Amino acid sequence: MTETMPLVEMRDMSISFGGVQAVDGVSVSLFPGEVLGLLGHNGAGKSTLIKMLSGAYRADGGRIFVNGAEADISSPRDAKTYGIETIYQTLALADNIDAAANLFLGREIITPWGTLDDAAMEAATRKVMHRLNPNFQKFDAPVRALSGGQRQSVAIARAIHFNAKILIMDEPTAALGPQETKQVADLILQLKREGIGIFLISHDIHDVFDLADRVAVMKNGKLVGTAPTDAVSKDDVLGMIIIGKCPPGATPGPGAASEAELAATGAPALH
Ligand SMILES: Nc1ncnc2c1ncn2[C@@H]1O[C@H](COP(=O)(O)OP(=O)(O)OP(=O)(O)O)[C@@H](O)[C@H]1O
Ligand SMILES: [Mg+2]
Repeated sequence: MTETMPLVEMRDMSISFGGVQAVDGVSVSLFPGEVLGLLGHNGAGKSTLIKMLSGAYRADGGRIFVNGAEADISSPRDAKTYGIETIYQTLALADNIDAAANLFLGREIITPWGTLDDAAMEAATRKVMHRLNPNFQKFDAPVRALSGGQRQSVAIARAIHFNAKILIMDEPTAALGPQETKQVADLILQLKREGIGIFLISHDIHDVFDLADRVAVMKNGKLVGTAPTDAVSKDDVLGMIIIGKCPPGATPGPGAASEAELAATGAPALH
């Protein structure tokens, strides 16, 4: 995996709001077909880090590389030109219109006569939905009538139809039941197979552990470390989240607790 060029590399990213250093010198990479789980307590800086990638916030410091070339991202529109799309927790769907209308909202296909090309938009929607969720049938229903999992698939379809290569999902399953969480997990596996890289932000270590190839843990705005999920246990990752303790299978970042700090918390020493 280290031989491949990262889809995205964020290098030494920082931003502060007033006196609060929300993100402090964080470096992470994402590879094609990889799910990187971004974990950490409330206020650790996960959403803020990712908002510098999606163009919602402008970084105070740091550099972003997409496919090895430095990217200049200062708005969500810029991010989209680099194939970076965000699925917001709210999904940002318009409830009273159908899947196709949502997919093309603000980017409608127009006929040569200047009217909406509904047939083309519906055909494109069927095609992309079939890739993601072959069981989806409710093309004529307003998205209000869809289940949470189906709504997720419409939001994801909208992102990938416009050629997302890098998908940011901030707490995608927070509002979903177990069945729908499984549906979203299936969607994520399909996106991986297509070579899309995914930043998966979550509080729920169990969800992340099942889906992520690697985890990156943040604490107080700093990177505690990164680790392949098969090189660490859930307890190891909880230790990273709670006391910043980097286990042997992880690569420590600037936010990893020192021996002295760990001794002060009463945690067993690092090996
Ligand atoms: N627009 C803003 N203005 C001021 N402070 C902000 C802003 N956005 C984030 N912060 C602060 O930055 C820090 C990191 O917040 P962030 O939302 O990135 O955390 P998070 O890890 O995503 O937490 P959560 O799990 O609660 O979503 C917090 O102290 C937060 O209060
Ligand atoms: Mg957040």
